[in-house]
Amino acid sequence: MTAQFSAAVTDGGKRLRPALVLLSGAFYRGKQNQLIDVATAVELIHTASLVHDDIVDHAKTRRGKPTLSAKWGEHQAVLYGDFLFARAFSLLTKHGLVRTLGDMTQAISLMCEGEIEQSALLFNCDVTEADYFSYIYKKTAYFLSACCLAGADACRMSAAEKKLLTAFGLQLGYAFQLTDDLLDISGNAAGMGKPVMQDIKEGYLTLPLIKLLRDKRHGFAVKQLITEKDFSAANLQFIHQALIKCGILAETSEKAGLLIKQAKQNLEKLPLKPPRLLLTRLADYVACRIS
Ligand code: IPE
Ligand code: IPE
Ligand code: MG
Ligand code: MG
Repeated sequence: MTAQFSAAVTDGGKRLRPALVLLSGAFYRGKQNQLIDVATAVELIHTASLVHDDIVDHAKTRRGKPTLSAKWGEHQAVLYGDFLFARAFSLLTKHGLVRTLGDMTQAISLMCEGEIEQSALLFNCDVTEADYFSYIYKKTAYFLSACCLAGADACRMSAAEKKLLTAFGLQLGYAFQLTDDLLDISGNAAGMGKPVMQDIKEGYLTLPLIKLLRDKRHGFAVKQLITEKDFSAANLQFIHQALIKCGILAETSEKAGLLIKQAKQNLEKLPLKPPRLLLTRLADYVACRIS
C-alpha cells in the first residue's frame, strides 16, 4: 500500500540524525541491532516531520524531487507521515527503550509546538530574535540533541558524558537551522534540492529578516513589502542585496560558526575515540554546508 511513497524515506537526505545516534552510540560497546533500530527510527521520525512540514509550507520540491503532497495530495501525505511516526515507535518499543521512546515523543511534541509558534508569527514584522530562537529550539535543536542522547543511552555512557553530548546536539541543532535559513536566502536551489527565497514568500521571517527589519536604512521599506506581500523578483532581489550590504548574512553565518565552536567544546571533554573525531567533523560540515 505504502510502497509508492517509500522513496520519501529511501531517496536522498543527509541522514544527519541517524549519524548522530550511531556516532554517539559508538563510544562504548552496546547492542548493535538496537542502535541501528534507534538510528532508523529517528530518520523515520525526521522524514515524517518533513512530509508534514511540506504540507504546511506548501512546498513543491524536497530533496530534488516533488514532495509527497505535491505528487499524491495532502490527504495521502498526512496519512503517510502518521504511518512513518507509527513505524518509528514500533522500532523503539521492540527493544523496550522506554527512556528513548519518552525522549522522542517529547521531541515530536516540541517539534509540533515549534511549528505552531512559527505559524502563529507568519508575516508578523514584530517577531523578535527571542521568538526565533524559541521556535528553532523546539522544531530542530531539541530533536538533534535527543538523537545524541539516544545514542549515548544505547552505549551506557555516564550521566556527565550524556550531558556533554546533549549540549553538543543542542548547539549543533541551532546552528543547523540557522544555516538552513541562510541557505534559503543565498543557497543554490539545485544543490539543495529545494527552491530559494521560499521562507519570506510563505511569511516565515527568519533571523536574517528579523535583523533587517530592525535596520535603520532598510527596515521600513522591507516591512512595507512584507505587509503588502509584494514579493516580485525585483523586490526579492532588493531584500537579498540589503541583507548582504548590511552585513546581516555574514553576521548570521558568524553566529552559526560560534554555535558550532561551542558545540565542539563539549566534545573536547569526551573520551578521545574515533566517534569524537567524527562528531567534530560532522559539526564542521554543518557550519559550512551548502546543501
Ligand atoms: C531539513 O532537514 C529540515 C530542517 C530541520 C532544516 P535536513 O536538511 O536534515 O533534511 P534532509 O534529511 O537532509 O533532506
Ligand atoms: C523543517 O523546517 C521542519 C522541522 C524542523 C520540523 P523548515 O520548514 O524550516 O525546513 P525546510 O526548509 O522545509 O527543510
Ligand atoms: Mg517549515
Ligand atoms: Mg519547510
